Amino acid sequence: PKHPAQPLTAATYPLFLKTHAILSSAIELFVAGAAGGIGQPLSLLLKACPLITELALYDVVNTPGVAADLSHISSPAKITGYLPKDDGMKQAFKGAELVVIPAGIPRKPGMTRDDLFKINAGIVQGLVQGIAEICPKAFVLIISNPVNSTVPIAAEVLKRANVFDPTRLFGVTTLDVVRAETFVGEIVGSKNPSELVIPVVGGHSGETIVPLFSQAQPSVDIPADKLDALINRVQFGGDEVVKAKDGAGSATLSMAYAGFRFAEKVAKAVKGESGIIEPSYVYLPGIEGGEAIQKAVGVDFFSVPIELGPNGAKKAIDIVSKANDAEKKLLSVAVEGLKGNIEKGVEFVRNPP
Ligand code: NAI
Repeated sequence: PKHPAQPLTAATYPLFLKTHAILSSAIELFVAGAAGGIGQPLSLLLKACPLITELALYDVVNTPGVAADLSHISSPAKITGYLPKDDGMKQAFKGAELVVIPAGIPRKPGMTRDDLFKINAGIVQGLVQGIAEICPKAFVLIISNPVNSTVPIAAEVLKRANVFDPTRLFGVTTLDVVRAETFVGEIVGSKNPSELVIPVVGGHSGETIVPLFSQAQPSVDIPADKLDALINRVQFGGDEVVKAKDGAGSATLSMAYAGFRFAEKVAKAVKGESGIIEPSYVYLPGIEGGEAIQKAVGVDFFSVPIELGPNGAKKAIDIVSKANDAEKKLLSVAVEGLKGNIEKGVEFVRNPP
């Protein structure tokens, strides 16, 4: 269920108290890549979140400045910034319950997410090795692209260290969901598109992204002559931003919003709030309900709506089998693309280049 923001009146006072009750058992969070285009606004949103007690920022540049700046905000989170020197990664990871990784280079016009693999694969591998050693029980949220391959890399690194728990590893695909809500909202004239539930499944790049409008809640009526363009816009919406930024990078502010939305949902579920569901790119065979979906789609890593709980991914929800015929065609294209992306990630760790 969604909880729309309410003004603080006598009627909403208990809600306010509840926020503070949650606060007393809050969460330590760590952001790797914290000084970047996504990292900075994401850290701002996390610093402002009352669920967070400690926020550690790590990057190869600029974190002392970002942390000093954010530290003047009067929210509860204690904030620290670390650089690689003085064993900074170790210091930052220590005690982290939740780790968000938006580290790595973003796209420029003409690039696909797969073009980022060469550089970002090694960055994600290095950071996840640190997690395996220092905070192996942390929930790990991967934003760095290509997500379709970086999540399999993370899983492989954690497996090799014997600390892989599939219910704690998430590829963040929330921006695809947020875009789908927004673009559908424009078509159906919704006053608050974030209240629409538009499941987006598959992966996180181009044709591997599959919006399932047939499963929207409440149901939405997309005119037939607008459907193809809408699907294309959800799949390639990131390109609009890359083009408009004209060489200065890809989505950062909308991604920070989406990354925060997912991190906050995980934190709330960990602290006991029930009924929280959000799609995420996960290792299906390791999650309740995931094996049947894995058998149906034929790939191990796939994004589906995940019910979150105190231990992370509680249940994978099968909406894929309910897709209509046109959506099933999109799904088979997505799976073909994903196979190669997943293989590339796994091979990167098993047989280093
Ligand atoms: P950016 O270049 O502005 O920031 C990346 C940051 O990572 C930089 O501050 C850099 O110093 C840091 N970094 C590099 N190597 C590091 C390491 N080993 N340890 C710690 N930090 C390191 O890039 P931006 O725009 O913030 O994008 C970051 C990543 O997020 C990119 O890979 C991008 O493709 C991806 N992305 C993912 C989205 C998604 O939906 N999952 C959406 C948009 C972007």
